[in-house]
Amino acid sequence: MIVVDESDPDLDEPRIEHLLQTAEAIRKDYPNEDWLHLTALIHDLGKVLLLPSFGGLPQWAVVGDTFPVGCAFDQSIVHRKYCKENPDYNNPSYNTKYGVYSEGCGLDNVLMSWGHDDYMCMVAKENKTTLPSAALFVIRYHSFYSLHKSGAYKYLLNAEDVENLNWLQIFK
Ligand SMILES: [Fe+2]
Repeated sequence: MIVVDESDPDLDEPRIEHLLQTAEAIRKDYPNEDWLHLTALIHDLGKVLLLPSFGGLPQWAVVGDTFPVGCAFDQSIVHRKYCKENPDYNNPSYNTKYGVYSEGCGLDNVLMSWGHDDYMCMVAKENKTTLPSAALFVIRYHSFYSLHKSGAYKYLLNAEDVENLNWLQIFK
């Protein structure tokens, strides 16, 4: 069964090739970080959610960028114009900078929009992975572009998140 991510700019490239290329590039640059090679290899496997045997979720619920819910939608969110259709957009409990969160609360305490990142992280945790916290961070937030590309939402990070974000920057 083939997984097709319609949000991927390079649809001609099979997913397994993309994963192998990512893992190989990281192995070359960081030969001693074996956990990072494995992370690169598995980070997108959550896209199986698109397959009928894993629920056959629609593309919008699996791929594309992810972002926190429960606080204001940042300008840098891809397709942010559609956030206006979300009832939270006009709810004063959820549409302020911090919303239901507080400064430095840590991303573990932040509810993210659903996608293949969060799913794969849950699968790893449920199966008692021995991957380090940085690996789980990379898996869970690699589609959180407003953070790792635009630098938004940094006020939600705790000290461990800040450290792990460095690995995510390398990864991207
Ligand atoms: Fe991904």
